[in-house]
Amino acid sequence: MDQSPRKIGVLTSGGDSPGMNAALRAVVRSCAYHGLECVGIYRGYEGLREGDFKELDARSVKNIINRGGTFLKSARSKEFFTKEGRLQAFNHLKQASIDALVVIGGDGTFAGAAVFSKEFNFPIVGIPGTIDNDINGTDFTIGYDTALNTVVEAIDKIRDTANSHNRLFLVEVMGRDAGDIALNAGIGAGAEEILIPEEDLGKDRLLESLKRSKKSGKTSSIVVVSEGDQIGKNIFELAKFIEENLTEYEVRVTVLGHIQRGGAPSCYDRVLASRLGVGAVDALLRGEKNVMIGIVHNKVTSVPFEQAIKGENELDRELIRVADITSF
Ligand code: F6P
Repeated sequence: MDQSPRKIGVLTSGGDSPGMNAALRAVVRSCAYHGLECVGIYRGYEGLREGDFKELDARSVKNIINRGGTFLKSARSKEFFTKEGRLQAFNHLKQASIDALVVIGGDGTFAGAAVFSKEFNFPIVGIPGTIDNDINGTDFTIGYDTALNTVVEAIDKIRDTANSHNRLFLVEVMGRDAGDIALNAGIGAGAEEILIPEEDLGKDRLLESLKRSKKSGKTSSIVVVSEGDQIGKNIFELAKFIEENLTEYEVRVTVLGHIQRGGAPSCYDRVLASRLGVGAVDALLRGEKNVMIGIVHNKVTSVPFEQAIKGENELDRELIRVADITSF
């Protein structure tokens, strides 16, 4: 496409995150504002493959800025990663005269978009929507702030009962291979130790740390365990290991699970989603393609998909230090 898009398709894909609805609202209203048509695509790349489309106007996204989940629904599509699946998707886009796409999701979503965009020379702009915050080229992803608040609220409650019984709680949080949720919620909730995949603490150091904190007079403790952490991968086994080696501890486990993905988005996530949604349509109008719109130092920016999805999650040493000092 050599000219500005006239009809933009939008979808949400991968694990949902609070604020995706706010991002959809911003994309739809931005299209209306610029006089472009907008089409909602249901169930991510699955709906794209099957042509499950619906025209959206400015009023069709009313009363959703405050709602968690995604009204377009989401899916993790295996078929879109086959050439045949992508061809089906392209044909549906052509039939509907859609000439550009906005995709909201995480690294799997952008990996699919990067291939498709190049294969068919089709303009696609991405918006980072995942609670994991594991995307390069943006300081924050939509839903991450809300998930942090959900985790902190839950741990505050766990702390009450931990304290009443002088117990140690292992609290498992999401994040796939990224420790961002664990590290930041751990600091915010005053955790004793934080186990993250980016840094292998090791079982022995964990035991030493717990011994030290008992000696220093602490009566109850919270250890936040990221689901991708090496020693925390089987959290129930880890609890057993601690009880066997430190008999002074009575251990309980809480797995927070998908509660972290739901709920009304925080104000931060609503504003972020609104800025990125507007930014995505602006980028398409500028003729950009194959890029993700992100937020860096509080400015809306764009980076190529390849850059957004590449590499390992960077560990923030300053946060590790803060966690160590404040749990002393
Ligand atoms: O990527 C978001 C996320 O919630 C991860 O934190 C988690 O590992 C994964 O999705 C769970 O995926 P599903 O809901 O498909 O089980």
